[in-house]
Amino acid sequence: MMNLREKLKRDLDESDSRLRELVLTLNDEQLAVPYNPGINPPIWEMGHSAFFFERFLLRDLYGDDPRMPGNDEMWDSFEIPHKERWRASVVPGKEVAIEYYNRVIYECRARLDSPEELTPDEEYLFQYVIAHQNMHVESLIWCRQTLGYPAPAFVEFWEDEENPRKDRGDVEISGGTYYIGKPRQNGREEMAADFCFDNEKPGFEMEIQPFRISRTLVSNAEYLEFVEDGGYENPDFWSFGGKFWLRESEAVAPEYWEKRDGEWWVRRFDQWEKLRPDAPVMHVTFREANAFCQWAGRRLPTEFEWEAAFGRGIANLEGCDLAGRFCGTAPVDALSENDCESGCRQMIGSAWEWTSSQYLPFAGFEVDMYAYMSTLQFATHNTTKGGSWATAPSLIRPTYRQAIYPNRRDMFTGIRTCALG
Ligand SMILES: [Fe+2]
Repeated sequence: MMNLREKLKRDLDESDSRLRELVLTLNDEQLAVPYNPGINPPIWEMGHSAFFFERFLLRDLYGDDPRMPGNDEMWDSFEIPHKERWRASVVPGKEVAIEYYNRVIYECRARLDSPEELTPDEEYLFQYVIAHQNMHVESLIWCRQTLGYPAPAFVEFWEDEENPRKDRGDVEISGGTYYIGKPRQNGREEMAADFCFDNEKPGFEMEIQPFRISRTLVSNAEYLEFVEDGGYENPDFWSFGGKFWLRESEAVAPEYWEKRDGEWWVRRFDQWEKLRPDAPVMHVTFREANAFCQWAGRRLPTEFEWEAAFGRGIANLEGCDLAGRFCGTAPVDALSENDCESGCRQMIGSAWEWTSSQYLPFAGFEVDMYAYMSTLQFATHNTTKGGSWATAPSLIRPTYRQAIYPNRRDMFTGIRTCALG
């Protein structure tokens, strides 16, 4: 097995090269992105990602001087108001931001090459800032999708015409006591050995009733039935909050779907393609996920049921649709070599799975080191699980909890349902 230092080098090189690819292949015109509440200007995002390395590693840990004195607030997402990130008089230009990024990443990367043993603090903080960088790699990918920019070079699409198998239906998860989350960790040594975020701790045992959950994600064809059955017009399917969202958004289908001459098309980055019936439905809000369930006589799993269904999970992440492997275009029945023991498929990668659970701290929650990583989203967001095709393998794990605002659908969100009763 790869030791942690080698793993950190590999993970940093990967997140760094993806981030560069996502930002530096855009020309000046593309970099001047219009204001949009769901994205960040790519140049700001690049500097913000470097700021985490600079602040937590170079300064707090190694005691170095600031590389850009007086600019902390400008790079800190919880200090700079979202709109200000677009203001040229506030955020430095491209050359300055890229130079800052290059210098910081180079200096941090060099630390991993030093012959000295890494301390638990270094091991923990490197994992933290690389994970944070990977979160921004994913948001830069949806930024490109939002804006209709070309796909980054590292993504690929499912090419097989044939859907290899049809394995739909439910699997049964037996009732019993399940361990949810990660155990409480004492000190940096334990935190470095089994890295996770504060919101995944402290774990606890939970009694879960037996339930049935679908083996696969909801496919485009399955969701299309709901659309064509008047799903968006019938208020009976929509929750209280769902009705408001529907009125406001005037949605008639998932984001990026369009009907032309009786056929449905989907936009992926800057390309339109015919709806792939067997691929998972993506870009749906929590509201739509619930309305679909209501129509289908189903329900969403809780985040705890999701973890129970994941169980001891899968042997490795190699075959999952992560890091742009298939861009969520593989059939929901495909990739069976990565089934969980329960028989659930594509639980890791493909699409973030909405759960019915409000995103809340576990009892006994404590902030690890950066209060804003989790706390601002408690109680206003829902928990999604499993990662999407745009998530990095080194970021995702079964206990990972991604908070997504229930009215959002610009992120790569999909649906897995449970049987009622
Ligand atoms: Fe961030």
